[in-house]
Amino acid sequence: MTQRVSLSRAARLAGVTRAELQRRIRKGELTTFEGELDIADLLRVYPSVTLEKTGKLEQVERIKADALPRSHDADTALPSPEVLVARIRSLGEALAQKAAQADAQAALLDELRERLAGGAGADALRAWLDARRGEIDTLPPEDARAGLLAKDTFLRLMSASIKIIPSGHEFFVDGTESILEAAVRAGVRLGYGCASGNCGECKARVVSGEVTRIAEHDYVLSEREKQMGYMLTCSNTAVTDLVLEASEARTTADLPQQDIRAQIRKLEPEGEDLLLLHVQTPRTQTLRFMAGQRARLTLEDGAVRELPIASCPCDGRHLQFSVRRGDDAFGAHLFEHRATREMIRVQGPAGDFVLREEATEPAVFVAIGDGIAPIKSLIEHAISIDHIEAFHLYWTVDRPDGHYHQRWCRALKETLDNFAFTPLVGAGTSDLLAMLQSDLPAPDGLRYYIAGPTTAVEDIGGALAAAGIPAERISMEGLG
Ligand code: FES
Repeated sequence: MTQRVSLSRAARLAGVTRAELQRRIRKGELTTFEGELDIADLLRVYPSVTLEKTGKLEQVERIKADALPRSHDADTALPSPEVLVARIRSLGEALAQKAAQADAQAALLDELRERLAGGAGADALRAWLDARRGEIDTLPPEDARAGLLAKDTFLRLMSASIKIIPSGHEFFVDGTESILEAAVRAGVRLGYGCASGNCGECKARVVSGEVTRIAEHDYVLSEREKQMGYMLTCSNTAVTDLVLEASEARTTADLPQQDIRAQIRKLEPEGEDLLLLHVQTPRTQTLRFMAGQRARLTLEDGAVRELPIASCPCDGRHLQFSVRRGDDAFGAHLFEHRATREMIRVQGPAGDFVLREEATEPAVFVAIGDGIAPIKSLIEHAISIDHIEAFHLYWTVDRPDGHYHQRWCRALKETLDNFAFTPLVGAGTSDLLAMLQSDLPAPDGLRYYIAGPTTAVEDIGGALAAAGIPAERISMEGLG
């Protein structure tokens, strides 16, 4: 059987995103076998793959690292020595097994040749066997498959791949991360509570592969659970590639309501009446939410506002919000005091304006003014899960200098081949609709996410529906 690798690992080997591989599979340029790709097929499409070339994938990883400054520090990039040793041992066993298989196949060929040598009519078969032996003996050292397998071995030392069943979601565990940390970073919503080994809510069953404990935990697994392969994802990392049976939050109703005492970490002024509010939760209480949802924020003096979360759920410890001065006590307090390190209560999440993850078709994001906050969260999550084929962001604001996330938009545009950004000033519903119809070749095959002032959002959603876009392809978030 030829060597096969998972889609995620193939993307790492070829230095491209999973979305690109999925696009090629849909176009028939690559074929999958039970969700895996043949290495020879991968080399046919990416003939120049080398150890050094990691291209787009690295760029995407850089963007994600920029978005998550503290969750994936450089000093945690290398696995611990114990995990490295365990991985080397496991790879050594796998290589020894392959070598033994190769020897056995060679012996089989020898034996067949000898037996057939005495039989009538076997000449043609013997010649064929000799030729095959010759091919095996003279494989050039720079054989592309060998190069790719060497790269695969190197990548397996650095990280292990996890597949969750029954969902089929895949992600990598890098460096010293726990399985849970890696899942959250990759946008996979495994169940968990304390993230520190106390509650048992992150329990999952190892179907295949090997894990090792990286943190002590107070929660006690029963003997029966241990025998069945259960372990805590917050306290273990992966030694080898794993298949895990674990539950995941599928809808917003699956997420618990949380109440967290967090801290204001930073307040960034953006012009006269806008602050970018950065909130940090305690280490053991990350906010579980879906991209596009809202949280209710309460300051020490009791001032309250519910706001869309502008950051990615892949980092539930560092939350971002856009705060207009407005005319309530919440805005007045923040703009007057501008005090960091103040405690802030975070309750939530709320709302159903979330990514339709089952849909891989290109997505169009329309942000009107501060509607960019939930849209930014959706886009960052979509990049994390690497599932959507292409993105187009239209962001209209009132003033020419109103695109306050300009740097973020530009970085995505420069880095991702499948991301387009159209900044607009003062565009109305008819302008936007005309632009969508002229820019997008088959608008009714796309998925639309629209966020901003309620009236404008409803206008655009209504206009899209009137233009023939099915209602289930339009998601809207009115911000009042
Ligand atoms: S999340 Fe509580 S024990 Fe793992």
